[in-house]
Amino acid sequence: MAIPTFLVTGGAGFIGSNFILLARQNAWAKIINLDKLTYAGNLQNLTSLATDPDYIFVQGDIGDRPLLDQILQKYQPDYIINFAAESHVDRSILTPEIFIQTNVLGTFHLLEASLNYWQNLDPAKQKTFKFLHISTDEVYGSLAPTEPPFTETNLYKPNSPYAASKASSDHFVRAYFATYGLPTLCTNCSNNYGAYQFPEKLIPLMILNAVEQQPLPIYGDGQNIRDWLYVADHCEAIYRVLTDGRIGETYNIGGLNELTNLAVVEKICVLLNELRPCKNFDYGSLITFVRDRAGHDRRYAIDCTKITQELGWQPKENFGSGMVKTVHWYLDNSLWLARVRSGDYKIWLQQNYGDR
Ligand code: NAD
Ligand code: TYD
Repeated sequence: MAIPTFLVTGGAGFIGSNFILLARQNAWAKIINLDKLTYAGNLQNLTSLATDPDYIFVQGDIGDRPLLDQILQKYQPDYIINFAAESHVDRSILTPEIFIQTNVLGTFHLLEASLNYWQNLDPAKQKTFKFLHISTDEVYGSLAPTEPPFTETNLYKPNSPYAASKASSDHFVRAYFATYGLPTLCTNCSNNYGAYQFPEKLIPLMILNAVEQQPLPIYGDGQNIRDWLYVADHCEAIYRVLTDGRIGETYNIGGLNELTNLAVVEKICVLLNELRPCKNFDYGSLITFVRDRAGHDRRYAIDCTKITQELGWQPKENFGSGMVKTVHWYLDNSLWLARVRSGDYKIWLQQNYGDR
């Protein structure tokens, strides 16, 4: 039986590449991966697919309308999954404009091209086409300690330029469903962790710093809370929403692991003390408190009752099991890390932490 074709945008990034690897492993679909290859895009993540005839990479921008039209005509995808984004809150504080370019305008151009493509499909294919937009829990803002976790009906209250740009893109996705009938779906997930995450985000940054016995910089008092979702669980959830989700709906995806940042970093230190012991040295001694992030959201938490009840999905990993896999992966992939930590990466560390 023929398998469908997915156009995946941002597939050279952290979550996108995990999704593509899983999709090819399970023969869910043929994959066309459109990625601009910003600092966060890394084709090394996908080298295992180098000889796979059902995987095609195209370098390009989701804001490039002629390129989008060409790709859609040539490959005739059944589904489009939009992972492409600028994704780091700290970068959005320093350079917000690129977040508007890619996350808002890029998504708008992708929606326009998708709408035009969908409207001209033959009726059978038009009926089954879907556009899935990957978003974040950060659009809902910050929770007080006793507030219930975010549901899909929470108001949007973004606090960072990143969250505002993602909120805007979510609204455009919704509007293209309501106004033009484009068959869209949207998922809003919590903080992902696992293999292939760029080491500017909390977990890989702390693992790498610790291994090099560099300070582990925790913002503010370390009591900010995030919910942690293992990336493979997230990818399974995306596939469930894509295949069985109700068109026009939003699904929240969470890992059911609410933890303070300090607890996350302490867990990394405990694991490293076990897996990479150094004589008379405790990795926890590297923990350092630094100036807080501007507008730092205090707490995120996800209520995933909807996806569990409607689609039967729930996370398989708890934080302990997911972290063991993650720390092992970073310890075992020193070549990947050496390549990722190029000159650009060093400049970023200097810009972000230089004066803290
Ligand atoms: P990432 O930064 O690792 O990867 C983003 C990818 O998009 C990169 O490969 C980059 O080259 C590509 N890209 C950027 N601008 C582009 C453009 N204009 N055109 C084409 N490609 C472009 O991000 P990620 O962590 O994999 O996140 C994927 C999606 O999931 C994003 O939409 C993000 O907002 C969302 N999300 C991520 C998390 C998380 O914890 N990582 C949590 C919630 C939501
Ligand atoms: P991050 O991984 O940047 O994800 P997000 O901001 O999207 O949640 O940060 C996760 C949490 O860790 C967040 O509360 C900020 C905090 N943090 C630090 O304390 N130190 C760091 O060096 C980084 C990168 C993040």
